[in-house]
Formats: sequence, structure tokens, C-alpha cells
Amino acid sequence: MAEKSVVDQVKESTDIVNLISEYVDLEKRGNNYVGLCPFHNEKTPSFNVYKDTGSYYCFGCRANGSVIDFYMEMENLPFNEALQSLGERSGIKVKHKQTNVNSKELQLIKMHEIMVDNYHNILVSTAEGKEALNYLLKRGFTLEQIKKEKIGFAPNIKDSAIQLLENLKFSKEMMYQAGLVARNEETFEYFDRFRNRIMIPIKNHKGKYVAFTARALGDDTPKYLNSPETDIFHKSSIIFNLSDAYKVIQDEKEVILMEGHMDVLKVKNTSIKNVVATMGTSVSLKQIEILKRVSKNITLMFDGDEAGKNATQSVGEKILEQKGNPYVIPLQTGMDPDEFIEKHGEESFEKYIYENRDHFIVYDAKEKLKSSKRNDLKFSEYLNHSIQLLKYIDNEVERSRLVKQISELYEVDAELIHRQLPKKQRRRGNKITFSSPSVTRVTSREFKEKHIMHTLINSKERMRYFTSNFDLNLFQTNGYHDIINKLVEYFSEFDTFDKQMFISYIDPELITCLEHIIATDLPVLEEQELNDYIQAICGISSSSGEKNNLIKEIEQAELIGDDERALELFNQLIELQKFPKSK
Ligand code: GTP
Ligand code: MN
Repeated sequence: MAEKSVVDQVKESTDIVNLISEYVDLEKRGNNYVGLCPFHNEKTPSFNVYKDTGSYYCFGCRANGSVIDFYMEMENLPFNEALQSLGERSGIKVKHKQTNVNSKELQLIKMHEIMVDNYHNILVSTAEGKEALNYLLKRGFTLEQIKKEKIGFAPNIKDSAIQLLENLKFSKEMMYQAGLVARNEETFEYFDRFRNRIMIPIKNHKGKYVAFTARALGDDTPKYLNSPETDIFHKSSIIFNLSDAYKVIQDEKEVILMEGHMDVLKVKNTSIKNVVATMGTSVSLKQIEILKRVSKNITLMFDGDEAGKNATQSVGEKILEQKGNPYVIPLQTGMDPDEFIEKHGEESFEKYIYENRDHFIVYDAKEKLKSSKRNDLKFSEYLNHSIQLLKYIDNEVERSRLVKQISELYEVDAELIHRQLPKKQRRRGNKITFSSPSVTRVTSREFKEKHIMHTLINSKERMRYFTSNFDLNLFQTNGYHDIINKLVEYFSEFDTFDKQMFISYIDPELITCLEHIIATDLPVLEEQELNDYIQAICGISSSSGEKNNLIKEIEQAELIGDDERALELFNQLIELQKFPKSK
């Protein structure tokens, strides 16, 4: 009888639900688990984990595979390393079988280690490196730090790397694959990729050298030349200085993201060490995901120019969408962190960091208000934008603090803003925590309707109560009308809800809508609560006052997607707020 392969052993002994739960909040649904997909950005969960088959599948981006695939993706590991590391967790010995893939990567890293040392030696102890060394010292880098960071210099020679590596029996093809050497595609002539440049080594999250970013000495272009994408260097997932800063970031519960590698190097030499950079200003969803796992608080300190501001705006919103907490430390025009330190000194910089951190939503509001006067038409549009952003904040304390700040900035009543935000439901019992799908555009009526639907789907008994006391047509949310009618049919045949079974009853277009309802992490309403909810949405409970009516109208307008009308009413509401009727 053949023995089980190590791969199968590892798969069987690793609980896929436990492992994935370390990265994704999962909620049990039937036999399976669902959560927000870690591989793409989504607001309603379509990422499914199947315990029985030990696999996962995302209906949104089709990411799928076994527990090993998941681990490879999340930890950015090659197959063998993932296998070994998972094996260790469950006490299975995985032999160091060096497959081609693995040994190739090891070779690429080995070449980098050699070149890091080589370039560094050229910088600090040869005549060729003198000019570059002086340049760095003049920029305020100390020799000690240059040594610690293994900063180097690539001489202006066509084949210095090639010669060195060839002597060590590496093939030109491998040098090329490492990105250390380039080639002329017509003549197939190989030459050093980096020449006459300051070499800043880039480490992966495990601290292994995998690439370089190389700065021109003078005004050569491009100013920075980076290693190309290789098997060991993926620009959209690498984070510069993360391996060094990891521990501090965890301790301080904050990571400061900068634009430039020079900035990070300069700043990490001060008392502020929780700093990282990506490769330029673009920040991928994957990078945000990686950072978020180390610390949810991500502070952006980009250059004080137009590009930096634009990047702050888009990255800040991306972080919010991904449920992180973005902060901003804005810099004056024309300034980057490195220049700040050179101009004002380390102490002022440290002080500046402590005194100028705003939550992104507050930063955003301040920036927008700078460009609009109090009576500008833009004013309410901006306020509305801030409110949309506030909807991303799940933590009630944090939210309330931010609402206060925003209301002060716009000089409106905080209560007015609170009312625009969906109420958070209190959880009952000790369910698995699960960040419920974002409620960005969900109005309170929509929210209540969803909760009612959720209840009806999950309880035949409530369904019976509902059908005998209320009108099936009371729902206004798109699709609910059809779903509820099919649900009546369904429950006439079955006693419990089964999604797969029910799907055959409804139009395919309604599946997404159904998924939204199912994904709601809310308790099944008691009969009395159900009753109250329905009364509330039917407007039976009376409300008085112009303000309340306006709020209702706004909800209606939002419900039918009439944003213009909603905005107009919202302006009226603000007016009411500004000029109380009791003159
Ligand atoms: P110094 O001028 O040396 O202080 O660098 P800096 O960090 O101030 O440079 P800048 O603000 O212009 O660029 C910030 C980051 O953008 C750099 O670290 C690079 O990652 C990237 N970058 C800038 N210029 C180039 C370029 O010419 N090519 C590439 N690939 N990236 C660049
Ligand atoms: Mn700079």
C-alpha cells in the first residue's frame, strides 16, 4: 500500500478553517464558511471555505485552491517553503527536497547577497566609490548607517557584475533572471544593468536580499532605476524596510508609509523606526493587506507636492475601503521627509510627526475646506463626501470621535452627521466575529428591510407570522419583492432554508441580492422586534418636525438612487441647521 504523500499529510492535518481564520474573519454558513476575499477588494463576502474538501473558492475573483495554495499566496512563499512551514505547525517533517524552483530562487538570492557585499565594498573602500560616498555623507547619511544598510555603488563598468558572478560559476542567463544583468535583445549581448549608481538593497519580508533600487549619482536619468520583476521580486507585494521595521510597527501599532527609499533610510536613523515605502507612489491592494496585518493604523507621509497629495487621497481611500485606519502627516509644499530632516533637524522632525497626525477623513475634510469658502456650493458636497467616508468606520468610539471633529470643521451639529450614518447593531451571543459587509450606501430603511429579510429567510416561524400579519409588498429594496414571494413558495415545501435549493427558485439576477441578505451578520429578530421594525419602515411610528421629515425624504431619495435630490434635501437640512427657525 502506497504511503500517503507528504503533501496529502500536510493538507489533512491542517485545519483550513483555522488557518484561513488567521487572515480572514470567517462566518459559518451551513457546512461552509464565508468571509471577505483577501485576494480582491470587496464589500460583501464571496470568499468561501469548504472544510470538507479542504479548499477555498472566491465567487468574485475565482481565486481557489488548497490550504497550501492559500498559505503560499498570503505569505508569499514558494510551494516547498509553504509546505514545510505548514508541516511544522502540525508536526509533520517535510524533507528539504530542493526542487528546481526552490534552488533557482536560492540562486537568485545568493547572487544578490554577493552583489550587495560587492557593491558595498566598492562604495566604502575603493577609489571608484569615493564620489558616491561623499555624496551620501553630504546628504546626511552616516558611515555607520551606510554600513548597516549595506548601501553600495555600482561602478561605471559594462560587465563588473558579470565578471564577478561568472567567476563564481553563475550563468549569464541566471544573472539576467536575477535582474542584475540586462541584454540587448538583438545581439543577445549581456551587460550590467546597474552602472554608476548608488545601490540601495531591497530585502523581502524575511530579510533576504532580492532586488536593488539604484540612484543616479548626478542628474542622470532615470533618477531611480529599480530591479525588474523577477521570481523573487514582485513590486506589488514588496514593502521596503518591512523586515527591519516589523517588530516596531507591531509594538507601536502604527506604520508610517513614505514615498521614497531615501526618506525611509533617513527617517529610520532617527527615533522613528516604524517606516516603510513601496516602489514609488503606487500602493497595491496587496500591499495594504500586508501592512494591515502588521498594523491597522497606516499613516501616510507622502511628499508635499501635487503627486504626493493625489497619492495620499487615493491610498487613504483604498485603506478605508479595506477596513484599515488611515492617518496622514502632511508635509509642506516642496518638502519630503528627508529634506525636512536636513533642513530642520531630527528633533523638529520627531516633534512634527507627533503633532501633525490627522485621521485621513479629517485630513481630507481640511484639504477640501481649504479650497472652498463657507458659502460655497461645494460645501455640502464636501460634507456629504466626509459622511460617506465615515461610513467605513466600524468602531463606534472612533467613529464618534471623528464625527465630532468633522462636525466642528464644517460647523454643523454632530447629531446631524450621526443620523446620516447607519446604526450599528449590537451582537448577541458569542458568534464568530465577522466584519459585516460595508454599509456605505445603505440607508436606514434599506438596512431595516435587509434585517427583516434576513430574519424571514432564517426562520420559517417568523415567515409564517409575517405572511399572516403583513403585506408582502411592503419592501422597497430592489429584488426583495420577488425574493419574498419565492420564499413563500419555498417554505410551503421546505422547513429550513437552504441556499443552493432556494437559488433554483429565483432569477439568476437576484442571486447577488440574496447573497447580500444572507451575508448580513444580524440576529434573527424576535416576533415583537420584527413587528417594531415593520411598523418603523411603514412609517406608522409618528415623527414630527421639519428635520425628521427631511431626513425621511433624504432616505427615500437615496433609496431610489436619486442622489441629486438627496443632496438638495441634504442642503436644506444643513440650512435648517445653520439658521434655526426660531428667529
Ligand atoms: P532623492 O531625490 O534622492 O531625495 O529621492 P526622493 O526619494 O526624494 O525621490 P522622489 O520623491 O522623486 O521619488 C520617490 C520614489 O519614487 C523613489 O524612491 C522611487 O521609488 C520612485 N521614483 C522616483 N523617480 C523615479 C524614476 O525615475 N524611476 C523609477 N522607477 N522610480 C522613481
Ligand atoms: Mn528626496
